[in-house]
Amino acid sequence: MRPATKSKIKNEMPVAEMLPMLVSQMLKWFSENARDLPWRRTRDPYAIWISEIMLQQTQVKTVIPYWERWMRELPTVQALSEAPPEKVLKLWEGLGYYSRARNLQKAAQMVCEESGGRFPINFDEIIALPGIGRYTAGAISSIAFNQPTPILDGNVIRVLTRIFGISGNPRDQTTNEQLWKLAGALVSMADAKISQKNTSLGTNCSFLNQSLMELGALVCTPRLPKCAECPANELCVAYRDNRIEELPALEKRSQPTKRRFVAFVVEKKGRFLVQQRPVKVVNANLWEFPNVELTADHAFSSNEFFKIATDATPLCTIKHSITRYRITLDAFQASLGDKNKVPGGQWLLVSELQKLAFSSAHRQILDRLAGEIK
Ligand code: ADE
Repeated sequence: MRPATKSKIKNEMPVAEMLPMLVSQMLKWFSENARDLPWRRTRDPYAIWISEIMLQQTQVKTVIPYWERWMRELPTVQALSEAPPEKVLKLWEGLGYYSRARNLQKAAQMVCEESGGRFPINFDEIIALPGIGRYTAGAISSIAFNQPTPILDGNVIRVLTRIFGISGNPRDQTTNEQLWKLAGALVSMADAKISQKNTSLGTNCSFLNQSLMELGALVCTPRLPKCAECPANELCVAYRDNRIEELPALEKRSQPTKRRFVAFVVEKKGRFLVQQRPVKVVNANLWEFPNVELTADHAFSSNEFFKIATDATPLCTIKHSITRYRITLDAFQASLGDKNKVPGGQWLLVSELQKLAFSSAHRQILDRLAGEIK
């Protein structure tokens, strides 16, 4: 990082003076540096909504093929509302947080019932839909409709705490509200600027919000930010005061929890035994191989399935992280002797299994089987 030299950095400046300068610099920077992402080629609120939900916790490069496939298969709110739930889950398979996919469909059904499939324009109506919070509603109404609604996610928090030198914990209510207010002031200022040529809707609010996300993703990164390339470096309080590494002042995350599972891959005449997870549990309705968690109270040895499975030989070990859990799944090939009735189980060919939605760790077991069987 280039050292902050007094000559390059302006003296302390009131926030009210920083805001219009920042808005101009951000809009200019975005017009020259925005990535060409597929959801940036549309103003369709449905398409933008899908991208925003997929982008929560998942990287842009992972999301692109998922979004493209989803938009091909379910191009409209109506198509999503009428799709078989298994299809929706399959299109989401691998993104994790499956309740998001279920909420997308629930919200699409509400939009179809309440307004004949026309996505709401009004922020209050958008935020009332299941699975849509303040960030997502702000993103949809600014990006699709160019409304001056703020957004605040991890990237924007990093950008704003650094530029304005905000040292409170952004998860604390007071600091969080202060950040929402700043984000609101910026997007309102963008809105107030004379709207530009050639677009009936205007793009200032949309581009200002996206510029904050983009700066956080490309320049104002958590580690080794590229301050020399930043359009706001002359305004940035953290850069001036050499506090980039201190901000945002987030609390350290607690240690992850380790969990171990054992799964059994049982084959009979080319078919494999699988089961579907029940509703209202994590990963509800997803498919998996019979498995059990190894817990301190020995649930493993008392598990019915384990008692009847024999000849277990190790197949593979899958490591997987989800939220605060670090999961190790040991998969064994096992046999059931002459017992083939397992409650809730189905015996399916690999080609049939590949059409179902599996949780990530079990999908890796299946990919291995498919590789061996090809
Ligand atoms: N992260 C969240 N929303 C995004 C968007 N619209 N483009 C790129 N990254 C994002």
